[in-house]
Amino acid sequence: MEIVSSISRMQELSALARRDGRIIGFVPTMGYLHEGHLSLMRIARKKCDVLVVSIFVNPTQFGAGEDLAQYPRNIERDKKLCREEGVDVIFLPDEREMYPENYSTYVEVSGNITNVLCGYFRPGHFRGVATVVAKLLNIVQPHFAVFGQKDGQQLAVIRRMVRDLNYPVEIVGAPTVREPDGLAMSSRNEYLTPKERKVAPKIYESLMLAEKMIQSGIFDPEIVKDRMRRVIEEAKMFRIQYVEIVDAETLEPVKKIESPVMVAVAAFLGKARLIDNIVVNPR
Ligand code: PAF
Repeated sequence: MEIVSSISRMQELSALARRDGRIIGFVPTMGYLHEGHLSLMRIARKKCDVLVVSIFVNPTQFGAGEDLAQYPRNIERDKKLCREEGVDVIFLPDEREMYPENYSTYVEVSGNITNVLCGYFRPGHFRGVATVVAKLLNIVQPHFAVFGQKDGQQLAVIRRMVRDLNYPVEIVGAPTVREPDGLAMSSRNEYLTPKERKVAPKIYESLMLAEKMIQSGIFDPEIVKDRMRRVIEEAKMFRIQYVEIVDAETLEPVKKIESPVMVAVAAFLGKARLIDNIVVNPR
């Protein structure tokens, strides 16, 4: 496994692999790897000859007052896990390498897709995500890149960016990996106290209830959202940011559930901002 911190070396390795007709698979991460990341690597490993994982806590996707400084990091553990998953290259740039002095180019995916859900509550977040992912795709030059459905809006935004900017890359969506009690795996679960961790699965419980309601023929999103909120609020520990039901592809709000929808929740539990979603097809 090679650890590469320079952009030029990463581009050189990718050019060599492509010249030899080797398929490059890519998993972008911010490190502090958990089973969710490892599942993305396993999906990629099966489909590629060269597996590249990037580890970069991207400052441009954090807003003022967010958790950039506290974001959990453990690079030695991450390297060990990557080695065990058969990763060929870790791309591990520092901030200066990615954003040199006078850096001034950003990618903005505009419209509803970035204005709703997390985009509404974290202005500038998806501009930072789109910018860093656009850069990483240019640096790693993968044939495909794998992203988790856990960050459902991020996946939709990246698909849109790749389509709009004609990136010659396949975006692969991967199922959310959950703890046995349903809590979606996330590096930010680290912030939960034992008491908070106990009630955290309420979010998944509310998503499961939504699925059951929709599949039993309740197609009014307001009725479903109201019941979901009540489930989460039972714990009296969450500060809900949003409970939304939107079109699964465009993320447009829906008045009636008639086609696949993304049911999505974001809520603070202590210091942790937890997000989760499921896609439900009413048919
Ligand atoms: O999902 C993440 O970990 C990040 O948003 C990503 C895609 C690596 C970009 O920094």
